[in-house]
This record gives sequence, structure tokens and C-alpha cells, in this order.
Amino acid sequence: MTDASTALSCIESGNLVYVGGGAGGPSVLIDALCARAPELRDVQLIHILTFIGAPYVDPKYEGSFRDNSLFIGHNVRKAVQEGRADFTPIFLSEIPGLFQRKILPIDVALVSLSPPDEHGFCSYGVEVGTTKPAADSARVIIAEVNKKMPRTLGDSFIHVSRLTHVVETDYPLPEAIQGKSSDEYMRIGQHIAGMIPNGATLQMGIGSLPDAVLENLGSHKDLGIHTELFSDGVVTLFEQGIITCSRKTFHPGKMVAGFLFGSQRLYSFVDNNPIVELHPTEYVNDPYNIALNDNMVAINAALQIDLTGQVCADSIGPVFYSGVGGQLDFIRGAARSKGGLPLIALPATAKGDTISRISPLLPEGSGVTTTRNDVHYIVTEYGVASLYGKTIRQRAQALIHIAHPKFRDELTHAAHKLGYL
Ligand code: COA
Repeated sequence: MTDASTALSCIESGNLVYVGGGAGGPSVLIDALCARAPELRDVQLIHILTFIGAPYVDPKYEGSFRDNSLFIGHNVRKAVQEGRADFTPIFLSEIPGLFQRKILPIDVALVSLSPPDEHGFCSYGVEVGTTKPAADSARVIIAEVNKKMPRTLGDSFIHVSRLTHVVETDYPLPEAIQGKSSDEYMRIGQHIAGMIPNGATLQMGIGSLPDAVLENLGSHKDLGIHTELFSDGVVTLFEQGIITCSRKTFHPGKMVAGFLFGSQRLYSFVDNNPIVELHPTEYVNDPYNIALNDNMVAINAALQIDLTGQVCADSIGPVFYSGVGGQLDFIRGAARSKGGLPLIALPATAKGDTISRISPLLPEGSGVTTTRNDVHYIVTEYGVASLYGKTIRQRAQALIHIAHPKFRDELTHAAHKLGYL
């Protein structure tokens, strides 16, 4: 047991430092690291989405720290977009491999853990997905042992003997406050709910969509969970007896996830709860494992789609917004699953109905997150377009049909000009 600044003194200039992700970010260690900035040069900080602050991207730390985000969250987005921080595109399923194969050889992992059990094992709590593989491959592990970190079960443990330094902390985890879903998201949720069979296993991506889908599943039976991330909506459906995981064909009886982000209600629910298992993303997001779930329904959001079915979810034109995360892992896994449904959903418009998210071409610089070869179903508030196995002409027709009515003539005209219709 030591204090944060003593623990952090082992970090040297030029080190590659992993920062625990999701809601399991080690805030006390981050603050202590920033306090050491004047003594350090070229320390690279690597992480996925984090829900704590990211003070290390402040311009005043330039030269001391350089951020490298594997999924861009709101706390680093401006820095990435201004070129003061880096972004590495990578599938969530393949992030552990970057560490294990020493493509990103981690010197120090900064993590947040639950207090040890009677056998000396700490749980990674709400963020196992990429944090456990990162720590497993690191030379040095500096851990906050936070009394408020829930003890989640699964492949989620590390023995105290592996920890180089331990700093005791006691502060609440960051919380996601669930707002009311907009009308358009509720209509999307209704379309999706109508496609989901009883007994299905669900993955929900990130953004405004998952809550709206879950809110529409109140009449379903025996749903299961296999997902990189879940939040409070899953707890509600479990308490209502709708999520039982009883018909799952992979990890029956268990909700399987990589990380969790929600309110204290969620964190209390997952604490020591045998129905919830957290695993690294190389396991949860492996498309082959995902496909072992029959009736696997993957539900992911997007920013834009072109008339051929190319889905962009990580950039707005050339401006990086997020990352691929687990989208394609789950789209491919669900496509292979017996009875699986790979779904992409997006509101038909953005920016107060001034932009159609269904466009003839993707704007220059847009990333293709789900390719037109992988795409199956697209859902907007106007309906569902089934694209798989369809020609470009059929795709353009189906997508125009679910575009906002005010853009349909414009899209039809553009599709003719492009030779799609
Ligand atoms: N053109 C211009 N601006 C657009 C746009 C477009 N085509 N589409 C969206 N925007 C704007 C929105 O207006 C919004 O701006 P605002 O914050 O000023 O209101 C912003 O971009 C975010 O769009 P929104 O649709 O509200 O995002 P979201 O929070 O629901 O998240 C994704 C949607 C696609 C960004 C999110 O799901 C994501 O990052 N996905 C990554 C891949 C993935 O699905 N991985 C699986 C989970 S790890």
C-alpha cells in the first residue's frame, strides 16, 4: 500500500502507459501523473473510451504527454480533432492482441480494482474488456483499490501479488444519467422491437439508441445479453422478468459483457452477482463466439449511410468522432448466428432535419465502419430496409423509402444521376 505520487514515481519519460477505461478509470492516479508532468517527456497514454476526466490532453501538458485513443470519447475528441492527440483505428475484439503481440508494448498499466477477496483476488469491476488484457501484458501494474468498485464475476480477476503498487481509494464511479428517449428514437426502438424474437440474445452498441430499444421490449420473453457494454435498461428488464438468459445457447443463464456504464443502481446490481459475467473483448467480441449465440441480435448506431449501404459510424466527413468499437465484430457475429439479426439504426436526419443521414455518397473523408458487403438491415424512424443480397438498385430504393420524406425526391434524382436507379 502506498500513496499515488510514490506509486507514480516509477513512470519514466518515453513510457507507454495504459489508462483503465470506461467507468473504471483511475482518477487519483491520473491526477498524480499530471502532477509529475514537469519531470516527464514523451509519455504516451493509451486507452479506449473513458468516462473520467482526461486532463492529460490539456495543451499545457504538450511535450510531457501524448494521448493515443483507441476509441474517441467526448473527453479527448477536441484534442484529437485539433491534432493534439492521436487516434488508432482498431476493432474492439483485436485491442487485446495489440498488447499481447507487443505492437503496443505497455510499460505501465494504471487500473482501478475492487478490494481483494479472502483469497487475495481483486476484480476489475466495471471495465474488464481491454483493461485486463492490458494489465496482463504490462511490466508494471499500478492499481487503485477503490472501495466503491463492484466485484464483478467472470474472467475478471487479478491476484494482489501481480500488483506492483496499490493505492487505496474510496470514491464513487462516474455515472450515466438516463434521459428520456426522443420520439424519433422511440419509433426506431419500436421497429427494432418488432423484429426481435422471444428468446433472442441482444448486443447494444453505444449512443442514444440502446435505451430506446430496451424501453420497447416490455412484452418480450426470455431475452439474453451478450454485448460489449450494458447499462441500467438491462437491469430494469431483468427485474421485470424479461431478461432471463434462459434460452441462450452460449453461456446460458449468464449476461456476458466487456464493460458497464450506468448509474449506481447498475453498479449495485452487478456487485457479486453470478448472473453477470465480464470478460476481455478478445472473447466477448470475437465474432466466432458471438455467433455461438443462436438468434443473436446486434443493434448498433450510425452517423450516415450511402445509397449502396456503406455505413459510417466513426467520423463526420474527415473529422474523427468515435471509432469502430465493436460494431463490425457484432455485425459479423450476428450475421453468422443461427437466426441472427445484424441491425444498424440511425435517425433519418441530423442537425434539426437539415441533413439527411441517408446520402447518395458518403461525404469525402468519411470512414466506412460497416461495409456494404456486411450490411444487412438499416432502421430509421420511417421503417426497415433489408439490404443483404440485394442489388445496388434495390438498396437505393429501399434506403430512399426509409429516408425523411423531405429528402426522398432529392435522393431519387441523385440515384438516377449516379446510375443506381
Ligand atoms: N452529419 C453531420 N452531423 C451529424 C451527422 C451527419 N451525418 N450525424 C450525426 N451528426 C451529429 C449529430 O447531430 C450530433 O451532434 P450534436 O452532438 O451536436 O447534437 C453528433 O453528430 C452525434 O450524433 P448522434 O447520432 O447523436 O450520436 P450518438 O451519441 O447517438 O452515437 C454513434 C452514435 C454512431 C456516434 C455511436 O454509436 C458510435 O460512436 N458508434 C461507433 C461504432 C459502434 O457502433 N460501435 C459499437 C459500440 S462499441
